[in-house]
Amino acid sequence: MAREWFLIQLLLISSLIGFGQCAKIGICYGRNADDLPTPDKVAQLVQLHSIKYVRIYDSNIDVLKAFANTGVELMIGVPNSDLLPFSQYQSNVDTWLKNSILPYYPATMITYITVGAEVTESPVNVSSLVVPAMVNVHNALKKVGLHKRIKVSSTHSLGILSRSFPPSAGAFNSSYAYFLKPMLEFLVENESPFMVDVYPYYAYRDSRKNVSLDYTLFSSTAPDVIDPNTGLVYTNMFDAQIDSIFYALMALNFKTLKVMVTESGWPNKGAISETAATPDNAQTYNTNLIRHVVNDSGTPAKPGEEIDTYIFSLFNENRKPGIASERNWGLFYPDQTSIYSLDWSGRGNVDISTGANITSSNGTWCVASANATEADLQNALNWACGPGNVDCSAIQPSQPCYQPDTTASHASFAFNSYFQMNGANDVACSFGGAAMKTKKDPSYDTCVYANSSKLSKMNSSTSEVQTGTAGMISRLSIVVLAGLVSLLSFGIVFDII
Ligand SMILES: *[C@@H]1O[C@H](CO)[C@@H](O)[C@H](O)[C@H]1NC(C)=O
Ligand SMILES: *[C@@H]1O[C@H](CO)[C@@H](O)[C@H](O)[C@H]1NC(C)=O
Ligand SMILES: *[C@@H]1O[C@H](CO)[C@@H](O)[C@H](O)[C@H]1NC(C)=O
Ligand SMILES: *[C@@H]1O[C@H](CO)[C@@H](O)[C@H](O)[C@H]1NC(C)=O
Ligand SMILES: *[C@@H]1O[C@H](CO)[C@@H](O)[C@H](O)[C@H]1NC(C)=O
Ligand SMILES: *[C@@H]1O[C@H](CO)[C@@H](O)[C@H](O)[C@H]1NC(C)=O
Ligand SMILES: *[C@@H]1O[C@H](CO)[C@@H](O)[C@H](O)[C@H]1NC(C)=O
Ligand SMILES: *[C@@H]1O[C@H](CO)[C@@H](O)[C@H](O)[C@H]1NC(C)=O
Ligand SMILES: *[C@@H]1O[C@H](CO)[C@@H](O)[C@H](O)[C@H]1NC(C)=O
Repeated sequence: MAREWFLIQLLLISSLIGFGQCAKIGICYGRNADDLPTPDKVAQLVQLHSIKYVRIYDSNIDVLKAFANTGVELMIGVPNSDLLPFSQYQSNVDTWLKNSILPYYPATMITYITVGAEVTESPVNVSSLVVPAMVNVHNALKKVGLHKRIKVSSTHSLGILSRSFPPSAGAFNSSYAYFLKPMLEFLVENESPFMVDVYPYYAYRDSRKNVSLDYTLFSSTAPDVIDPNTGLVYTNMFDAQIDSIFYALMALNFKTLKVMVTESGWPNKGAISETAATPDNAQTYNTNLIRHVVNDSGTPAKPGEEIDTYIFSLFNENRKPGIASERNWGLFYPDQTSIYSLDWSGRGNVDISTGANITSSNGTWCVASANATEADLQNALNWACGPGNVDCSAIQPSQPCYQPDTTASHASFAFNSYFQMNGANDVACSFGGAAMKTKKDPSYDTCVYANSSKLSKMNSSTSEVQTGTAGMISRLSIVVLAGLVSLLSFGIVFDII
């Protein structure tokens, strides 16, 4: 009886959780550059943009530390150069886990370990090492009881296929069968996703005559491609490439594996010959990609399928070799300003209370400067919430702007309120250099930043921020969130049992 009740609860919980879920959008944090901000600053930047999932390519300790207690989920990596020791001795992996990962877990939330990256592209042939290394990593996790919480997989380039067009003819290159078959079996057994890096940009660049730019940028209005075998209609290349993977998996009878996109993006700059590598195209591709992914529309072959996707990449990486575009996939400059703006929610900034679409607004806001030190921010924050007369209730625990719980985020909220209260003039956004103006609305989720239209109201009543529309939205969603949290913790309890 107890057991039945438990199962019913479980079903209920999983259906409820499943209902609210949608595919995840993350970002890759490559560090092959000599001009990047410190990991601490990067963690703040990521939180400022409400990015919840980050992929790194190693297990760098400074990065792991920087993301502690941020709520950001990390995908970490075992580089190809470590596959030899990782595949040779279980004890090597046990030691790595004990010394390099466990001290930071779970304060730093790690959910995936990628073992090897695009091994088929590696100049040194390491492909026979990858599955033994994955097995050792899995075993090490199992010894400490984390194998259900941290999933092990490996990433692939589309070059693992021998055919990708039409999608229904997608097939893995049989030369790779010797490691791919055992890998796929490992993934099924451990409920890990198949990870692939997908770059319509390259397909466009390398066969411009045959592929339209609109089709690669998700901007196409006409059905561009019809698969002659299935009759399925493709309006964008991303879907076609993902489906070629699904069909390749089906051909080997791996029908249930989930596919995860561990890299996709568009360069903002390239060599003279790379005419499509522009900030505009990059913005279009990534904006449409995010919308497509969070919409859970799936692909023509798998409608409604959730396909978690990581955008490549956080920063341009000046030390990468090769053609100019290789170094220019970033969304941010080293000073952490945006190369182009991107709506991470994929839904436009809709003001929930009025349904008004504020994406096209062109106001000015004031936020913490990415350059400011923690101490300067804290001092300025204390001043704003004290002598500055800013209503700082929205950044108190459990209030809508409390998360991310960082000085930079709290300071941004307070700086902006002060700025808007005081005529939105330059002087009001100084804070001794700790603040800077931005044209991008910093509002996120239910945390609504005041704008200049609230200016006069705010002057007459400083509690406007708390009691106005922002307050209403937040109270509603706190109830919803609280519900979700209790459901989730229930799920976790079951997991441990
Ligand atoms: C890589 O090594 C494996 C076994 O060690 C071998 O079967 C395979 O042919 C090699 N691949 C290439 C491209 O040399
Ligand atoms: C399959 O992989 C092998 C080894 O990397 C390569 O030589 C061959 O060209 C590939 N075949 C196709 C059709 O891509
Ligand atoms: C374009 O397609 C044609 C026929 O399908 C093919 O022969 C040609 O190589 C392709 N061109 C490029 C640049 O891919
Ligand atoms: C979102 O999904 C719906 C139905 O699945 C589809 O009609 C619509 O085109 C999708 N929008 C985007 C931006 O993919
Ligand atoms: C909001 O407005 C922008 C620009 O006018 C438009 O592209 C976007 O689709 C709108 N979003 C919604 C959810 O209406
Ligand atoms: C300012 O905020 C109000 C309410 O939050 C909103 O209705 C209005 O569109 C916003 N104006 C700008 C320019 O963003
Ligand atoms: C920006 O604001 C100005 C002045 O209110 C207005 O004329 C213009 O159309 C706005 N631009 C956008 C993109 O909303
Ligand atoms: C950051 O600091 C550098 C010099 O220290 C300055 O040139 C740059 O403008 C600052 N960036 C921001 C966003 O304040
Ligand atoms: C708001 O109030 C402050 C002083 O309380 C005043 O200096 C400022 O001019 C007022 N701004 C507006 C737009 O009324």
